[in-house]
Formats: sequence, structure tokens, C-alpha cells
Amino acid sequence: MEQPHQPGGSDPGEGLRLSESEVRAQAFYDRWIGEGDWFSQLGRAVFGLSGTVYAGSFIRAAALRPEDRVMEVGSGLGRILTTSQRRVRAEQLYVGIDLSYQMVERARRGLDPLQPPPHFLVASALQMPFRPRCFDVVLLSHVVKYLTDPQLRQVLAQVRELLRPGGRIVLWEFRPYAWGRINRAILRGSRSHKLRSAAELVDFLQEQGYRNLQPFRVHTPWPPFRNLAYRAQAG
Ligand SMILES: C[S@@+](CC[C@H](N)C(=O)[O-])C[C@H]1O[C@@H](n2cnc3c(N)ncnc32)[C@H](O)[C@@H]1O
Repeated sequence: MEQPHQPGGSDPGEGLRLSESEVRAQAFYDRWIGEGDWFSQLGRAVFGLSGTVYAGSFIRAAALRPEDRVMEVGSGLGRILTTSQRRVRAEQLYVGIDLSYQMVERARRGLDPLQPPPHFLVASALQMPFRPRCFDVVLLSHVVKYLTDPQLRQVLAQVRELLRPGGRIVLWEFRPYAWGRINRAILRGSRSHKLRSAAELVDFLQEQGYRNLQPFRVHTPWPPFRNLAYRAQAG
């Protein structure tokens, strides 16, 4: 497998300068996923299982080919990438970045001793350590709710720079409910910032120059169930 990118430095996690909302998300996931108690074990099981389910949606939505260079922003335990890389018999090494040291540490252990795991880095979505135009597909799975409006614009603009001609962005996030109380519980429970409507997400994508936007379905097997999902092309 080829190394699809040039990270800037050994592990960009060193010396990361994070925003307040990122520090909150990083502390939340490091504590939740890193402990040995039942709640952490449950968290790891949830991300493991949902990642396997999401991989199928991702492969279909991105129309993944073996030769595609793939990166996930906020890759968590890495299950989506690991499963997709194996299922499509990828010819390229996939890359995942995440704020959480615990997530990245566990993702790096990999699942299959016979297959090299994707390359996982501690890095921020706001300072992605890659050269322009080095990926064919970029995925954001349940990360958008962590970003403020200016941060979401910045991330979408950076992703567009990282995509090669004909490259695709695939993203999904929880769809807000009509009851503010449920939405607030989701945000509190995940220490995240904001759920957006379909119209808002479409606006953000179009404003950053993405075209050919197509909605699709992604099934989350537990509450809050409802997702908004889009694939689009860069430029
Ligand atoms: C809900 S988890 C989703 C993990 C994985 N994408 C999945 O769907 O299984 C959100 C992940 O995004 C990461 N994250 C949140 N904000 C981020 C940021 N600004 N940069 C990088 N990762 C971020 C968190 O650390 C966490 O691992």
C-alpha cells in the first residue's frame, strides 16, 4: 500500500493549539474512551459496532474504489476506515485524524494483524497536516456538531483544498428534532456545539464551493437515530 500523504512532522499531536470547544471535546473523549470501567467499555463497543455499520454506507455513498486516497476527519476508534479499507481491498493506506489521544491510541492497535491499519494521527480538523490535493475522498462522520459556524466554514474550505480534482466529501450528522429539549440533551451528552438543519448544511457546503450535492441515508442503530447525510464534489 502506498503512503498517500505527507504529514507535517512526526505526530502533529505534539504542540497542538486547540480552541476552547476542541479542548472540551478532547477531554470528553479521552476520559470516556480511555478508562477501564463499564461505561468506557460500552463506549468502545458502541463506536466499534456503529463504525462497522457506517462503513457500508460510506463505501456506497463515496462509491469507493481500491485506488482512492481516503481521509477521515474525527476518525475516533477508526472502525469506519479500517472496515472500509479491508472491504474495498484498498490499494492506498487510509488516514484518520482525531483530537483524542485515547481514540487515536486505540485506533492504532488495529483489528486485523494481517492487515496494516490506516494511519491515525492526533490532529485538529482546524489545522490539518496535509498537502493540498492529496485525497480523493474525505469523510466527516458525526463531527460537524462539534464545530462552531466559523470553524465549520474553515474545515469545509480546508477539505476542499485537500481534495484532488473530482474528489468527494461525505458527511453525516444527527438531524435535529423538533423538540429543543432533545437536541439540548444530545449536545450536552456529547459535549458538542450545534445541530444543523438540512438547509443549513446545504448552505455551508454550497458556500464553500461544493457541487452536485446528494443526500443519502445512514442508519444509526441507537438513539438519537436520525441523521442528515450528504455527498458532494469539490469544485
Ligand atoms: C462522535 S465521535 C465520531 C467518531 C467516528 N467518526 C465515528 O463516526 O465512529 C466524534 C469524534 O470527533 C473528534 N473531534 C471532535 N472535534 C474535532 C476536531 N476539531 N478535530 C479533530 N477531531 C475532532 C472527537 O475527538 C471524536 O473522536
